[in-house]
Amino acid sequence: MIGVVVLGSTGSIGESTLDVLARHPDRFRLVAIGANRNVQKLAEQIRRWRPPYAVMANQGAARELASVLGGSVPQTRLLAGEGALEEVATLRETDCVMAAIVGAAGLRSTLAAARAGKRLLLANKESLVMSGPLLMQAVKDSGAVLLPIDSEHNAIFQALPREFDGDFGRAGVRRLWLTASGGPFLRATPAQLAQVTPEQACAHPNWVMGRKISVDSATLMNKGLEVIEASFLFRAKSAQIEVVIHPQSIVHSLVEYVDGSVLAQLGNPDMRTPIAHALAYPERIDPGVEALDLFAVASLGFERPDLDRFPSLRLAYRALQAGGSAPILLNAANEVAVASFLERRLAFHRIPELVEEVLERVAAASVQSLEDVLAADALARRTAMQRLETVTH
Ligand SMILES: NC(=O)c1ccc[n+]([C@@H]2O[C@H](COP(=O)([O-])OP(=O)(O)OC[C@H]3O[C@@H](n4cnc5c(N)ncnc54)[C@H](OP(=O)(O)O)[C@@H]3O)[C@@H](O)[C@H]2O)c1
Repeated sequence: MIGVVVLGSTGSIGESTLDVLARHPDRFRLVAIGANRNVQKLAEQIRRWRPPYAVMANQGAARELASVLGGSVPQTRLLAGEGALEEVATLRETDCVMAAIVGAAGLRSTLAAARAGKRLLLANKESLVMSGPLLMQAVKDSGAVLLPIDSEHNAIFQALPREFDGDFGRAGVRRLWLTASGGPFLRATPAQLAQVTPEQACAHPNWVMGRKISVDSATLMNKGLEVIEASFLFRAKSAQIEVVIHPQSIVHSLVEYVDGSVLAQLGNPDMRTPIAHALAYPERIDPGVEALDLFAVASLGFERPDLDRFPSLRLAYRALQAGGSAPILLNAANEVAVASFLERRLAFHRIPELVEEVLERVAAASVQSLEDVLAADALARRTAMQRLETVTH
């Protein structure tokens, strides 16, 4: 039995993970679940799964959870606070950690799982964007196994040779191609983009996702973060990563080889496929995903991204090329901008503008430690908040 911890269990990826686990009770044992403040959903999950541990990061929500449960599930130990996420990620009985917390909040628990040598299923792309070199070094030092959950990186992982070690020349790899659906505003004019509401931005045409990643998909910042993620995961230079718009979301990404071969992974847009792949790797298990009907799909389209209407992608390439703390600044400014947009304090088209302002105002510095990461993150957030004040008042 493989002991699994699901961090971010109340979210979209967390729920999909529990769905896959429920189909294979003979193979996986749920050790712990963790979330931030969704008391009702975590209580439901505790009643359904009765895991040995459940963590609520937010202290107030943790007290509320204890009172809602009222001792009705004595098998589950309730823990509170961010530190408890790290604690359950590193338990002896934990073999595998699904890192599915959204944003920078997932950084510490992801790093802790990597340092403890666990099988790390990485959905929380922001933690890799923020601490790529540190996280990859921690994985190497501890012998952890890092498997990407983002459907694009999971597809690339599947299309690369199994022994791939980042040496593009030896593996005969020319380029990595990340596909992007283009989001709900692929054909929108700049005037229409200026009017976009949070509800429209969160209604993705192909994927059901959390609100933050939905907005990132709509601005194409999600693809930008994925470019940076791919560069750390596969040791690719920015020139070796291409983005192609593929509105059907059937081809999840591709690897181009020097002999002209291009290998792709295809499937219905259902995150349970990459989740099942990473949970069972190198075996294959049934996650309950509908089989791909190529006759129904009929045709696949590909086009070049428009960097004028979607400048976030250009900004992400710029941050990757700048290196050091630049990806951290990009990520933090984006988190502030997206949260402000969701609170209706910032217009949709201002999201990349705010990110660009932060990249221009804060010089990228070198990053050697977690403290450096957190300092750059805090500085970028402060700068973004200050800019936001001047914009909105
Ligand atoms: N959804 C997708 O299809 C998809 C695909 C690829 C990658 N990803 C990545 O996967 C991650 C999760 O995405 P999602 O769509 O599942 O997001 P989501 O639905 O918004 O869920 C976010 C989860 O993170 C938890 N959380 C938030 N802040 C936290 C904190 N401070 N401490 C502990 N837990 C916290 C939330 O708990 P509460 O509910 O209690 O607030 C929730 O369980 C993101 O990094 C995203 O980029 C998602």
